[in-house]
Amino acid sequence: MPVTKAVIPAAGLGTRFLPATKAVPKEMLPVVDRPAIEYVVEEASRVGLRDVLLVTSRSKKAIEDHFDREAEIEAALERKGDETRLARVRASSSLAEVHSVRQSSPRGLGHAILCAASHVGNEPFAVLLGDDLIDERDPLLEEMLTVQARFGGSVIALMEVPREQVSLYGVATVEAVPSGPDDRYPIVKIRDLVEKPPVAEAPSNLAIIGRYVLAPEVFEVLRQTPPGRGGEIQITDALRTLALRAAEDPQAAPVHGVVFTGRRYDTGDRVDYLKAVIRLACERADLGPELYPWLEEYVAAGGPKEGLS
Ligand code: UTP
Repeated sequence: MPVTKAVIPAAGLGTRFLPATKAVPKEMLPVVDRPAIEYVVEEASRVGLRDVLLVTSRSKKAIEDHFDREAEIEAALERKGDETRLARVRASSSLAEVHSVRQSSPRGLGHAILCAASHVGNEPFAVLLGDDLIDERDPLLEEMLTVQARFGGSVIALMEVPREQVSLYGVATVEAVPSGPDDRYPIVKIRDLVEKPPVAEAPSNLAIIGRYVLAPEVFEVLRQTPPGRGGEIQITDALRTLALRAAEDPQAAPVHGVVFTGRRYDTGDRVDYLKAVIRLACERADLGPELYPWLEEYVAAGGPKEGLS
């Protein structure tokens, strides 16, 4: 069954980015001149997933509003004849058919995904984390959909991270899958998963990043998954159950991983957020020619010369 729906969990508290995220959802922080989540919805739309479900919360109304029409702004721009800005403002409301559901309290990513069960129904679906940006030049999601069409079951995105960072992620035990001539990234079979292990106990440095293509069986597993790490219902634990099931029963839906080697920015992390803004702005035709020479000058002059504050 082809994947047509994307679920974007965006109901987390964003504590790493406080106080900016006290009243503004972290997914609405601007990456250059668009909120981070707009890049994510655009990514889903680009691979044909035009049915998008946002999982939000009471304090995240701004996200829902962003994907709606804003008649007053549009009318003002029309009056001024500002076609460029008008097109930019309208773009967000025409990217996809955007729906939303509320997670009543932040009980974890697994719980947020479970909130999408009735919208998704009995079909495979994609999950894109609302604060995780994949550079549009790197076709990760497209590749994951191809892998899901080939093997069925679920597919997760993995990335090699420095060993000392594994305790920030879900970490995978994998088995190599022979690669085909058209594979853009290495594919692996998932044998086991553990959420945020201590560095010394991590089975590898392959970390789960924010893209998933999930079989609908995950909902039934999530309903039975008790709170795990941090007292939250973890998607990693549910995927572990699916992977262990597949190891015992060859008929059960497998879990594969795509080992991504492209550009990714975790905009919920302050340093990664700043890297994303600087890099994407430097690479933009309308901003780069002014910004990049300034950046070169700043670095050549010794950067924070007066010392770090
Ligand atoms: P994170 O752990 O990165 O988000 O969750 P967070 O909890 O908002 O961030 P910090 O650590 O406090 O700074 C990954 C994704 O899962 C969503 C988040 O919005 C983010 O997109 N999420 C997490 C939910 O939707 N609901 C939850 O209960 C937890």
